[in-house]
Formats: sequence, C-alpha cells, structure tokens
Amino acid sequence: MKTADAPTHSKILILDFGSQYTQVIARRVRECQVYSEIVRFDAPAAEIAALKPNGLILSGGPASVYDKGAPQIDPEIFSLGAPVLGICYGLMLIAHHLGGKVVFTGRREYGAGGLHIKNRSELFAGLGSQLDVWNSHGDEVTALPKGFHVVGTTEGCDFAAVEDPQRKLYGLQFHPEVVHTPRGREILQNFVYHICHCAMDWTMGSFIEEACVRIRRQVGDQKVVLGLSGGVDSSVTAALLHKAIGGQLTCIFVNNGLLRAREEEIVQRVFGENFHVQLKYVDASERFLSKLRGVTDPEQKRKIIGNEFIRVFEDAIVNLAKTDHGSPITDHKFRFLAQGTLYPDVIESVSIGGNPAQVIKSHHNVGGLPEKMHFELVEPLRQLFKDEVRQVGLQLGLPKEIVYRQPFPGPGLAVRILGEVTPERLSILREADTIVQSEMEAADWYYKVWQSFAVLLPVQSVGVMGDQRTYENTVVLRIVESQDGMTADWVRVPYELLARISSRISNEVKHVNRVCYDISSKPPSTIEWE
Ligand code: XMP
Repeated sequence: MKTADAPTHSKILILDFGSQYTQVIARRVRECQVYSEIVRFDAPAAEIAALKPNGLILSGGPASVYDKGAPQIDPEIFSLGAPVLGICYGLMLIAHHLGGKVVFTGRREYGAGGLHIKNRSELFAGLGSQLDVWNSHGDEVTALPKGFHVVGTTEGCDFAAVEDPQRKLYGLQFHPEVVHTPRGREILQNFVYHICHCAMDWTMGSFIEEACVRIRRQVGDQKVVLGLSGGVDSSVTAALLHKAIGGQLTCIFVNNGLLRAREEEIVQRVFGENFHVQLKYVDASERFLSKLRGVTDPEQKRKIIGNEFIRVFEDAIVNLAKTDHGSPITDHKFRFLAQGTLYPDVIESVSIGGNPAQVIKSHHNVGGLPEKMHFELVEPLRQLFKDEVRQVGLQLGLPKEIVYRQPFPGPGLAVRILGEVTPERLSILREADTIVQSEMEAADWYYKVWQSFAVLLPVQSVGVMGDQRTYENTVVLRIVESQDGMTADWVRVPYELLARISSRISNEVKHVNRVCYDISSKPPSTIEWE
C-alpha cells in the first residue's frame, strides 16, 4: 500500500470496493481541503490504524455481499474508534458484519430519488428534511445491527441513511459523492469536519512547502534530470523541482519533429527564459522522421517513436555527462529521474469480477527509461489529482497557457497523420492545427473542451477553387469533451465556429480542399485517430 509521507495533516482513508465513484469520493474529500487516500478494501485493520486516519469511508462496489468472492473487509476496522461512513456496498458491509440483515431484493433502485430525513443526525446537520439523492444499488438492508437507528428513508428503501452515533458508524444507501446528489457535498463535509474533526489543512500552498522539504530530503545534493514534454504534468514537476533544488535540476526537452507549431519556442521561453531552469534542448526531428519514413501502421509508429525517444534521451544524458568534467564519460551524472506521475496513475485499481483492461493503444509517455541507467525516481506529484496539479502550477507561477493546456499525445502529430508521416504532411497538419487552436481560443471554447485538434487523412477528393478543379487532402476536425480521456463525446460547438474553422483551413492551408467534423463518441471510437 502506498502511503503519504506527510503525517502532519488530517486524513480520510477510502477503502475501495471497486466502485466507479471511488476516485470521485477521494476528490470530494480533497475539495473540503482535507487529505484523502484510497486503499484496497482488504487492507488489514492494523495497517489502517498505523496510518492514523481521522475517519474511513467505505466505497460502493459492483458486488452483492452474498456473491461468492465478494470483497470483504477486515471487521476489526469497526473497532478502531475512527468514524466510518459506508456508502452503498459499504453500508451493506456494515450491516452484514455487525449483525444486521442484507437481502438481494431483485429490484434495483437506480437513478434519482427523494430522501426523507426522519431523525436528527450530525451527518445531515443543516440540510433540512427532504433531499434529492442518487441511487444505484441492488442489495438492501432489511434489519439494522444493534445500536443503529434509521435517519432517513427513500421511496424504495426504509434504511437509506442509518447511524450508530455512539460508535460513530454511518451508512448511506445512496451516493453523496455524485453531482446528482446536489447536497451530497455538504453531507461529506459534515462527516469530514464535524464527525471526523478534520482540519482544512490540505491546501496547495502547504503541499508545495511539504513537497519541497521532501524533495530536498530525497535528493540531498545530487543532480536530477527530467524529461520535459511541455505538458501540464511534466511542466509542474519541473517548476516544483526548480523551486526545491534550483540548479540541481536539468530538464531535457526533445523535439521529435512531431510537435505542434511553436511548441519548442513556448517551452524554451517559459522554462529557459522565465524560470531560468537549466534546459537542454535536443532537436532530434531528423532522427525521428527518418525512422518513420514509409511507416503507415499506427502501432508501429507508436513503437518507433517510443523506442527512439528513449535512445535520444539516453544520448542526451550521456552528452550532458561529457560536458561535466567531474564525471566519467561512461557513466551519467544524474542519480535521480523526475517524473510527473499523478495519483490516478498510482492507485491500485481493484477489479472485482472484471477483466484486466485490454491494450487498445500502446501509450507513450516521457518515462520508461532503460533499467540499466539505474535511476531513482522522484515523483513529487504522486499524491495529486489533475485539478490539484493545475493549482500547484498556477501557484508556482506557470502561465495559464501551460497549466490549462489540452492533453497532447506523446507520439504527437504522427498519430494524427493517417498514413505516412512526411515533412510536407506535417506542415499541412501544423497549419490546420494552428487555425483550430486560435479559433477555439478566440471563440472562448479552447479551455471548455478536453481536446480540439485537426487530423490529416490519406484521402484526396475533388473540389473546385476559382474555376479550377482540385484534387486535394481532407482534414478532420476533432473536438471532444471528457473527464479523464477514458470516455468522451464530441462537442456540440456552434455551427458558426465550425464554419469559420472550415473556411479558414480550406482557404489558408495549401493542399486541403475539404474539412469534416468527427461526430463519434468514445467508445466506440477513440479520441485520437491512431
Ligand atoms: P485515445 O485515443 O486512446 O486517447 O482515446 C485518450 C487520451 O490519451 C491521449 N493519448 C496519449 N497520451 N501518450 C500520451 O501521453 C500517448 O501515447 C497517447 N495516446 C493518446 C489522447 O490525446 C487522449 O487525451
């Protein structure tokens, strides 16, 4: 189990029983400015106690408590003295383990409902007697354990909110963490502040201070190298490390020739000129483009780019060592490699009765460096969610154009050029992409969507320009909204915006005479075309 190395602040632990909402619970708690951490459902009580949580939340989950192999909790957890809030499956476990009764009624309660508060409870303090709530459950409690009483009921459920205030055990049949329970946030606040007595001490300012101390403690006077991609995560990691250790940090920025227009300029300006980070700019465009010559298969492109990146990065490190007179040329002078790993990447997701996720695309990130380089990792953002990373970035003084930029895939424009990647086709796509970005920004849509970009198809079609017949390329416009990139939908942007982008691309970008709008969601499509 991963634990936070910061014992000074309040902490809520969330035991994960496989709910799709577990991360949402963790984020809701953090929005209360209280640190939260997700742990596996089967964490032993002694391990939980050692983490000294102020309170525990048991998540929902897809199982029924009576299923064979249903995830079980260490029942000692109920005797630790820390308040416990069971949500949905979490409530079933409380009832099941403490002597109540749970049945599978065969009737699923799903969707919006109304909760009638029958008895006063600290959990619902200040919330009135009637609440809109969101249900999603199959099992139902039919008898309460000793010491418990009903706080609230819904149409279909007599035990929708229950508690044993003596032992500080609480259970909700519905989901307070989702937006469809509009006052769920206040329920969680009541639990976190008034029942668990947490302080609002998880702020990004305090995180930065603590992270700097931790980084200095970890690296001492050693040097750290970081692959800077220009994306939010690596940029914030760079700014944070720079604050913590200044000149001990060297960033390597690789231009793989597959970047958007002016990308290398922006990164060099922000980090080199504004932050005075030691920045090694490596222009490896030629190397990448020659390796990609003639390649059309999407997975092959990704593999080539991933492998080449590692070689280029490795070479850059060795070259940096050569310029450092103190180090032997055969070795590198960096003991540490920093990475912008975030919390969602490190949470061990529990798959209950599910299949391990299939590899749809082999993702490339600025990581995966060869084992033989023997780096120790520095991952200062491991505890943070994306929105927290953005706040940290802003507090460290990074500009909005970096902090709120849309995600950009590691293999860059190569996966947005279907067919062969050539300098000519790159230049067509870059021009089209620049128009998409600038029109999205001008219309105030850029920051509202997950991604907006152009894709170049290996398809020519007939057009007419002036009195001339043309036979030119097709550009597809992809604008999607998404929470995390796992699912996505195309955005219903105004027709006028589509019209402007389309006419600018066909008028200004040579060799394009047709623009299409991609109206596919994910699934079944993916966001990138390759
Ligand atoms: P797909 O195309 O799989 O993309 O629906 C989901 C999200 O991931 C981004 N993406 C990548 N990000 N390295 C990355 O760092 C990659 O190789 C990569 N491929 C796709 C994509 O832009 C979208 O936001």
